[in-house]
Amino acid sequence: MEGALSDGSGHPILLTASEIARRVTALGQEISKDYSGKEVVFVVTLKGAFVFASDLLRHIESTLDAKVDFVQASSYGNDLVSSGSVRVLGGDTSMIRGRHVLVVEDIIDTGRTIATLIERLHGLDARSVEVVTLLVKDREVPDRPAARYVGFHIPDVFVIGYGLDAAQKYRHLPEVHVLTDK
Ligand code: XMP
Ligand code: MG
Repeated sequence: MEGALSDGSGHPILLTASEIARRVTALGQEISKDYSGKEVVFVVTLKGAFVFASDLLRHIESTLDAKVDFVQASSYGNDLVSSGSVRVLGGDTSMIRGRHVLVVEDIIDTGRTIATLIERLHGLDARSVEVVTLLVKDREVPDRPAARYVGFHIPDVFVIGYGLDAAQKYRHLPEVHVLTDK
């Protein structure tokens, strides 16, 4: 992390576009190596992971047998605080059965969203289920599922940009910023 730069949004930058690009390239290479010769379905969680996924997928080797699907996972309640129950919409269930699945997530906080998705995908008879997440918040959460691939560990702050929102705003910012009250 290169320190608290800021830009027109007024929210300090936590991860610059070039830091993110370098890390996403490396993740793509690592995933391509690990899944070489296998059939893999990338399950992208909307909306937050759409920018990360579109960059990551373009760093997956063209020789890989890869498919892409989308689900919408949302927790009920206040936007800035994770609530208890998670709703999952969409997803082509026939694509999952018997296949290696890699969930593409934007951020793991309490881990409830990813836990629900992992359970759902196992229920659809995926051959394996792993997770790649751009961000993991550093905080003590008992039994939080571990992602196999992590872009960055970040402090327990609310972040926006690079797909992540606050009340649907800021998804278009090329960097990850810390949301501050203005
Ligand atoms: P859980 O607690 O289920 O949370 O791991 C994961 C989901 O909560 C949202 N989330 C955030 N969204 N900035 C965001 O824009 C954040 O700092 C943040 N923390 C959690 C997000 O939808 C994620 O998938
Ligand atoms: Mg999300």
